[in-house]
Amino acid sequence: MKTDNYLVKKYNKQGPRYTSYPPANLFVSDYNNKKFIKSILKSNNEKPENISIYIHIPFCPQICHFCGCTTETGFSFKFIEKYINALLNEIDMMVNYIDTERKVTQIHWGGGTPNAIPYKFIKQVTDKIKSTFKLDENYEMAIECSPAYFVLKHIDQLKEYGFNRISIGLQDFDEKILNAINRKPSKIPVNNIITKIKNTGFSGTNIDLVYGLPLQTVEGFNNTLKKAIELDVDRIAVFSYAHVPSVIPRQKILEKFTFPSAEEKASMYNNAYKIFKDFGYQPIGMDHFAKPSDELSIALKNKELHRNFQGYCTLKTTGQVYGFGASSISQLHSSYSQNEKNAAKYIKFIENNKFATFRGYNLNKNEKVIRKIINEIMCNYYVDLAKVAKEFNTKIEEIIELTSFREDRFKDFIEDEILEISNNKIKVSTKGRIVIRNIAMRFDPLMIKNTKSYSKTI
Ligand SMILES: C[S@@+](CC[C@H](N)C(=O)[O-])C[C@H]1O[C@@H](n2cnc3c(N)ncnc32)[C@H](O)[C@@H]1O
Ligand code: SF4
Repeated sequence: MKTDNYLVKKYNKQGPRYTSYPPANLFVSDYNNKKFIKSILKSNNEKPENISIYIHIPFCPQICHFCGCTTETGFSFKFIEKYINALLNEIDMMVNYIDTERKVTQIHWGGGTPNAIPYKFIKQVTDKIKSTFKLDENYEMAIECSPAYFVLKHIDQLKEYGFNRISIGLQDFDEKILNAINRKPSKIPVNNIITKIKNTGFSGTNIDLVYGLPLQTVEGFNNTLKKAIELDVDRIAVFSYAHVPSVIPRQKILEKFTFPSAEEKASMYNNAYKIFKDFGYQPIGMDHFAKPSDELSIALKNKELHRNFQGYCTLKTTGQVYGFGASSISQLHSSYSQNEKNAAKYIKFIENNKFATFRGYNLNKNEKVIRKIINEIMCNYYVDLAKVAKEFNTKIEEIIELTSFREDRFKDFIEDEILEISNNKIKVSTKGRIVIRNIAMRFDPLMIKNTKSYSKTI
């Protein structure tokens, strides 16, 4: 059996993270408001029937230099107020086209740091969602939070507004590393925050960790993993640091520090996998771990795990995703539509009663087939091409042609024991998880052209 270091050396190349297919950098600029409206109308009759809502709050009091999210800093109360008013108006504008008889199953607040804006604005938006849409009785409403801006009473407020899941970005517990990435540590002990969330009756808590940050060591990250276990949350995300300074210039500042090598990053991932698995967590997709009773673990068992820009989800909870706010992406069955990224420009568009679409993509049938295959590989580590052919009412030969699926193109993966192929069924082995992006890329006709603007796969 080949060693992990061998896999790291061989496969650590640039490639997409596949949070969408095609990846967002391939969205086109001639996708405009008119096309967006057409896409919304079409989505009303597409599967999944449910509605998912994404709210983007692009503000952070302090910007972490590693961060790849769309966020800005230095804003006044007045500006945030204008932004929230624009977002409320955007909801009004969009529901002229969305069939709101469908139920909302998932609401996700991302950022930026949504928990760092005045809470009256959070309430205004949640009230608007509740008065505009029909919430499913089992809806999930999650919010991405930085612990640096929490006081315990905020957790009561979020519960009162209807949130039932809180996701906390920790990245690392070591203040030396947080300092290096210009990140504010938690004001109160993280343990107290988690305990408060549990005692307040939230149905779920996630934490985010990142490996591959400057100054991190394998040993130091083991301590972070142990501390994460002690928090006893139901989901843990362990993201590989994506270093792409050509796309995110602020990351250049970090290059004065020492980064862990690709081999050390692989050890960090493998240790996380082992420690969390030994503790009883179920590995989910590329970088998540969930308690066995968590709905993501159950969905994985039933091969019903799904993924959208907001992370892993189940086929049951996810719907057509309608995005609101600067840079948000509406992720519909047949299209992606992204809003203007700059908050001030976004506000201007909405104030002029115009949508703020800046780029997007209409998918054809072949692209939907490839998206399905890549999704299955990234989420369920398994794909049965005959099943995909049946779902898309096409012949297996066409799928094979479309993805250039010939065993000789996968020979290296088979020899390295990272996947097995039998009867057009592809199964990724446990050791193949670390190179899952490379496996997905092999099915992607777009990757034959250019992979330069992506982060390394490990
Ligand atoms: C919007 S942020 C989380 C919410 C909050 N602002 C915070 O920092 O805690 C979403 C998550 O994306 C992850 N992330 C951001 N930039 C990343 C990068 N360059 N590589 C890998 N993960 C990244 C971090 O784990 C972060 O918690
Ligand atoms: S990691 Fe969170 S707090 Fe830091 S800049 Fe990104 S969104 Fe803001």
